[in-house]
Amino acid sequence: MTSTVTTSTVIKDTVLITGASTGIGAVYAERFAKRGHNLVLVARDFQRLENLANRLWEAYGVNVIIEAADLTNRSELERIEQLIASDPHIGVLVNNAGVAVAKPLIGSTPDDFQKVVDLNVTAATRLGIAALNAFAKRGGGAIINLASVLGIAHEIGGGVYGGSKAFVVNFSRALHQEGAAHNVRVQAVLPGATRTEMWDRSGRGIENVDPAILMDVHDLVDAALAGFDAGEVVTIPSLPDVADWQAFEAARLKLLPNLSRNTPAPRYRVKLAEQAA
Ligand SMILES: NC(=O)c1ccc[n+]([C@@H]2O[C@H](COP(=O)([O-])OP(=O)(O)OC[C@H]3O[C@@H](n4cnc5c(N)ncnc54)[C@H](OP(=O)(O)O)[C@@H]3O)[C@@H](O)[C@H]2O)c1
Repeated sequence: MTSTVTTSTVIKDTVLITGASTGIGAVYAERFAKRGHNLVLVARDFQRLENLANRLWEAYGVNVIIEAADLTNRSELERIEQLIASDPHIGVLVNNAGVAVAKPLIGSTPDDFQKVVDLNVTAATRLGIAALNAFAKRGGGAIINLASVLGIAHEIGGGVYGGSKAFVVNFSRALHQEGAAHNVRVQAVLPGATRTEMWDRSGRGIENVDPAILMDVHDLVDAALAGFDAGEVVTIPSLPDVADWQAFEAARLKLLPNLSRNTPAPRYRVKLAEQAA
């Protein structure tokens, strides 16, 4: 389903935001509208998108296109990929739609988590690749991927969701690596717990989250955009001291020269020799 609320003025790159009907995506929509960007808003709930579109058009005078789509449905996902590829005004993708399932792996079936993989991994990947190619052809653009701190810290909530967000962190860096030569900026945002509907939707219930670790969604998006404006590739809005992230990165980079070699490390060679004896 497609609907358009228009003014006659095209101001800046159009921003396509997935999962814009509520939560983090809806705040991104408001913030980019305030900055004067026209928008394409994607989610399943047409009515919520339309209410938001009307509000943003009235408040900021920006054009807002509504694309109601279930991004776990292949043909609807492909429609959004095509839109990114074919609309020359779209220059920013906020790859935000995501879902969590708060269940342990033991006692669950693979089907319980399929929508997490379909939305957080498959849809984010396909839209990211579509945007990278389209923006590279157009001479530039930006991709903002919503990951999670669970992507680097399975200890505080792993499962399929944490795995999907680890994928988003690494995939964002691959997009950044290839995009840099084509003036395509990529940012991975790693929110901690944020006050949105996601908690109730996941089955965990927001009342079970310690308020001391729960960030207001407006603060989260404003911090993420400050990181975006500063040109960060990875933004962790909660982290007080950026030196901690830099130390983490330095430790990771120290591994690089030794991660692929033509012989096993000596500690394993000893064990192999013992087994052969
Ligand atoms: N909240 C947190 O604590 C937190 C922490 C770390 C990372 N994140 C990440 O931040 C992103 C946004 O999360 P949020 O907290 O804002 O979640 P939310 O409040 O549950 O909103 C999720 C958005 O995604 C849309 N969506 C869900 N399933 C969809 C589907 N199949 N197709 C299209 N759209 C779909 C929803 O709209 P419809 O229902 O209308 O489709 C909604 O607009 C996610 O990637 C999430 O993993 C959140």
